[in-house]
Amino acid sequence: MTSHHAIEAENLVKHFGETVAVDGVSFVVPQGTVLGLLGPNGAGKTTTVRMMTTLTAPTSGTARVAGHDVLTDPAAVRRSMGLTGQAATVDELLTGRENLRLIGQLYGLDAGYIKRAGDELLERFSLAEAGDRIAKTYSGGMRRRLDLAVSLIATPPVLFLDEPTTGLDPRSRVELWEVLRELVADGTTLLLTTQYLEEADQLADNIVVIDRGTVIAEGTPLQLKDQSGAAAQVVTVSHAGDLERAEALIRPHVREVHVDAGARQLTAPAEGLGHMTKVAGLFDESAIVLDDIGLKRPSLDDVFLHLTGHRAEDTAPDADEELVS
Ligand SMILES: Nc1ncnc2c1ncn2[C@@H]1O[C@H](COP(=O)(O)OP(=O)(O)OP(=O)(O)O)[C@@H](O)[C@H]1O
Ligand SMILES: [Mg+2]
Repeated sequence: MTSHHAIEAENLVKHFGETVAVDGVSFVVPQGTVLGLLGPNGAGKTTTVRMMTTLTAPTSGTARVAGHDVLTDPAAVRRSMGLTGQAATVDELLTGRENLRLIGQLYGLDAGYIKRAGDELLERFSLAEAGDRIAKTYSGGMRRRLDLAVSLIATPPVLFLDEPTTGLDPRSRVELWEVLRELVADGTTLLLTTQYLEEADQLADNIVVIDRGTVIAEGTPLQLKDQSGAAAQVVTVSHAGDLERAEALIRPHVREVHVDAGARQLTAPAEGLGHMTKVAGLFDESAIVLDDIGLKRPSLDDVFLHLTGHRAEDTAPDADEELVS
């Protein structure tokens, strides 16, 4: 394997008794990029992350983090990575600052460094004012931010985030995305799991979609959208009364046309920009006033539905803690 892959999963398998949680997952994450591991509840995301971060042993297969094998050199893997789990793991009885100090000390960092880096992280995660309050008094969003700050104190080159924004309000989510973008700009390699397609779309350079323990698709967000069905051109007329005439106008020029009276929209398969320009031209010469004409790509939601045949559903119980000693 080449060393420019910060993370490599090689045919990871995990059985829990009869349950096959992960069934042969492989992927690589080039250094300095973001991989979105996307899948519905129970797909095997957390189990995959736990194997890659030495928290649980693979039934078979292996993984490497910063070139270190999780089976043969787990200590080096742990030194190279930070992890923010699906459930916040901050110590509730310590203040934010104390939580940071504790983990910094566990990593063997010196007190002066911990103080400086800790202050900077509290600032970065908008926790500066709350830094001296015990974490018990924090909101869910503040705990998640503290959790992430703690996982960054040792400036690991590789960061694993298991559903980092679950439970955050939309504004906190966008703020966290900003912080993550900064980290990546500074060279951190990021693997994040998410059920939010938008999140993968926003942050990930590459997406691996898993369902029932196997990889069912991978690619850039754009590639995945392209895979799952054609783009469409959508014409929105200003006056509902024009819809029928608009349809008659374009029907001879498109393969098929779908009429949505409620939205005053006509949808036809996209056949390239030239074709769309031509369709737009038809309207120029008519008296029909348009609100909009544009190209609509399938959303990642559509992609997901297309790939899995189902939308994310809430079925899986939470995974228990199972530490490998
Ligand atoms: N410790 C465990 N013991 C038994 N079964 C487990 C354990 N951990 C996970 N599983 C099962 O393995 C499968 C994958 O679970 P996992 O937690 O990896 O999914 P996930 O993609 O993280 O889901 P979610 O989005 O709900 O977090 C599920 O069927 C789950 O019930
Ligand atoms: Mg999970």
